[in-house]
Amino acid sequence: MCGIVGAVSTRDIVPILVQGLQRLEYRGYDSCGVAVYSDGLKRARSTDRVAKLLEQVQQESVTGTTGIAHTRWATHGAPAVHNAHPHFSHGPGKDAGGKAGRIAIVHNGIIENHEELRAALQRKGYHFASQTDTEVICHLIDSVYDGDLFEAVKEASSQLHGAYAIAAFCKDEPHRVVGARAGSPLILGVGKEGGENFLASDAMALAGVTDQIVYLEEGDLVDLQLGRYWIVDRSHKPAERQVRTVQAHSGAAELGPYRHYMQKEIFEQPRAVADTLEGVQGITPELFGDGAHRVFKEVDSVLILACGTSYYSGCTAKYWLESIAKIPTQVEIASEYRYRDTVPHPGTLVVTISQSGETADTLAALRHAQSLGMNKTLTVCNVATSAMVRECKLAYITRAGVEIGVASTKAFTTQLAGLFLLTLALAQVKGRLSEEQEAAHLKAMRHLPAALAAVLALEPQVISWAEDFANKEHALFLGRGLHYPIALEGALKLKEITYIHAEAYAAGELKHGPLALVTDEMPVVTVAPNDALLEKLKSNMQEVRARGGVLYVLADADSRIESSDGIHVIRMPEHYGPLSPLLHVVPLQLLAYHTACARGTDVDKPRNLAKSVTVE
Ligand code: G6P
Repeated sequence: MCGIVGAVSTRDIVPILVQGLQRLEYRGYDSCGVAVYSDGLKRARSTDRVAKLLEQVQQESVTGTTGIAHTRWATHGAPAVHNAHPHFSHGPGKDAGGKAGRIAIVHNGIIENHEELRAALQRKGYHFASQTDTEVICHLIDSVYDGDLFEAVKEASSQLHGAYAIAAFCKDEPHRVVGARAGSPLILGVGKEGGENFLASDAMALAGVTDQIVYLEEGDLVDLQLGRYWIVDRSHKPAERQVRTVQAHSGAAELGPYRHYMQKEIFEQPRAVADTLEGVQGITPELFGDGAHRVFKEVDSVLILACGTSYYSGCTAKYWLESIAKIPTQVEIASEYRYRDTVPHPGTLVVTISQSGETADTLAALRHAQSLGMNKTLTVCNVATSAMVRECKLAYITRAGVEIGVASTKAFTTQLAGLFLLTLALAQVKGRLSEEQEAAHLKAMRHLPAALAAVLALEPQVISWAEDFANKEHALFLGRGLHYPIALEGALKLKEITYIHAEAYAAGELKHGPLALVTDEMPVVTVAPNDALLEKLKSNMQEVRARGGVLYVLADADSRIESSDGIHVIRMPEHYGPLSPLLHVVPLQLLAYHTACARGTDVDKPRNLAKSVTVE
């Protein structure tokens, strides 16, 4: 989703700004731009890739020592050059007079009261060149500017409703960039030379530039100048924020021998799961933070809140939490929960799951639960410095490493590993986990990296399935029990990156509707581990075959389902009991990946999607 980079320096910072945008490309965007101070405001904007923007700035000799840059994911106004950021103020007055092009701004997030503000600014004579809510902020800052940009941003932001992060500069104060954070992430990078300072929406944008990072807090305003910076908190009081040394993940962004980040990340899963479980010697609540034992003792139910792939890991965890820990568990889509009338229960452990830790809906759902008095909060998250981790009492940090591919893969399996640990820890505190059971589960968890590696070796067989899928427009995924969420995740992966319409059903629901869709043009993927539901699933498969449907079955080593006419079987290397979902999802990830390659889609940056959805 949208990305911000800003800098105040004594050298030409355009290369750093553009490289910063390149590091944020993976988040998904549809236009980009850069603006600098160079005897006035200068900018270049494009609806092409950042690489093209780089060519443009070189051709147009855009250079400068102070500047801001942006990747935009369209919300208000189409993805077009005139809507791309940075935006400049121009007005008031038709010919814009001496005030023309005074303020430049980039913005992530959404301004909810942009219509009222736009109308008020139009009444003052401001003209709008875009359909964006961002331009409203730009003119608003201009309208209150009186020689001090920091004061103007402070005043303007007090009139903004919504979630946003902004970076602005003014041509009358050429060595100054001002930022504001309210609901969208923003960090400050303390430069290493020449007193330069940086702003970005993600520390990754500054990899190789500085590792001295300040995470701004909600409501913070920051004033960047040469050799100094200044932060005030939401009540405009001076604020001290810790400077942390953050190892930028530039190394992780290398593709190595892989064609795409998604493929790389699928193959990193044995390592990612091993890292996530590293240091787990035994099951103890303290794996989730100090005080977890007391919290776990007090809770009698679990409420899981998440979006997208993270929601499906929550759906899987529900089966574990209810069958192993015997704790009633509810899983809710965060964007639904945040606006729904619910009955709060103080004995509930609220668990958010998020790769990024910045997803706007999940954060809002967490805050909503807190506002209802549910303060026992825990997150399973891949980013230790994220808002989600900061705002939850307890946390389990997965160690997937940076995930670049928009379609989440290794974040999902590592979340499952963390959630299985949570299940065991809760079961232990509730006296529902014997020492033998704990030892057996731990043994299975330690073997997961090897088991995942064995599943990855099935890739050639999955490629032959992908060849069949490449020319299909619809697909159905079936699963039962613990593997129903895996079918859902398999369908999501396929639609995200191949644009094939895919739906998943609990197999028992087949005859209640989707069977009507089954023809030989509708491949039916069936997740069929050798568990208690296998015989039921086999009957569902017969129902598909009887209608001419072609089955693609992920069967376990010992499940006696054979390939035959219209039934393609890939046999999983071993049956893995409750942890089987971590293994069965892998061929589905590979199926989506290879089908996308065969169809020639942009695997790592699928159309219309963003990696980290920081707007509602
Ligand atoms: C976006 C991403 C998905 C991800 C979802 C939730 O839609 O494209 O891959 O599952 O957001 O993100 P989170 O960071 O909260 O796990």
